[in-house]
Amino acid sequence: MTMRIAFIGGTGFYAAPFLDDPKEILVGTRYGEVRLLEGHKPDQEIYFLSRHGAGHSVPPHLVNYRANIAALKELGVQAIFATTAVGSLAEEMEPGHLVILDQFLDFTKSRPGTFFQGEGFPVVHTDMSDPYCSFLRREVAVTAERLGLAFHRSGCYVCTEGPRFESAGEIRMYGKLGGQVVGMTGVPEVVLAREAGICYAGVSLVTNYAAGISPHPLSHEEVVEMMRKNGEQFLTLLMATLQTLPPQWDCSCEKRPEANLILTLPSSEAKG
Ligand code: HPA
Repeated sequence: MTMRIAFIGGTGFYAAPFLDDPKEILVGTRYGEVRLLEGHKPDQEIYFLSRHGAGHSVPPHLVNYRANIAALKELGVQAIFATTAVGSLAEEMEPGHLVILDQFLDFTKSRPGTFFQGEGFPVVHTDMSDPYCSFLRREVAVTAERLGLAFHRSGCYVCTEGPRFESAGEIRMYGKLGGQVVGMTGVPEVVLAREAGICYAGVSLVTNYAAGISPHPLSHEEVVEMMRKNGEQFLTLLMATLQTLPPQWDCSCEKRPEANLILTLPSSEAKG
């Protein structure tokens, strides 16, 4: 059986050097067209999608999250490994460390956050108790352990609207609410993957301490530079995880009534 697996690359992760001879493909969805790379490995179809587009041209609040996840669903993808750069609110989550996310706090403001938007679409309330696939999380953690990487097996991701960084006051508040790392793109991506019944693992690289904890003002250049220096870990970890991924697994991500609904939504009712 051929497995279909996707990587969504965040800041600093724009190409797929792990794919031999990748082919660029375009997938049309009711939310827009998505450009991806497709490559083959024995018994695996691998897709790579750059979240911010070529040359980081799309800011976090304008990423077409629904088109991206809808395209992966159309392609029959069963598992998504998504990377994000994050600031840290927790002393022990140091710059350079990896964090395998297990929870999120959603502070986004203006993004379409669901496939089930009403207006003729079915009303669906998707369970989000455990947003990230527990099986994939375990697989990534076992691999990170084996490779001896500096990583944390859980972490609560605060998603802000961006594109600005946070104020020190906001970071103090997020910390009090249980947030451990902060970024701008993890939500609604993980939510849409769950609505679509696709297993999703979010792996973050800490690029800086968050605003007010960092001794200096934050900059995108600092984030990109940290990713350049440490981003290799993502590749090593995710490629090694792929090699040991079984062809099938038992988790609840796909076993939900709405898991295939998005494939049947009438395109005429789509809103961008
Ligand atoms: N805040 C928000 N997004 C980020 C940060 C941060 O400190 N670092 C990397 N992405």
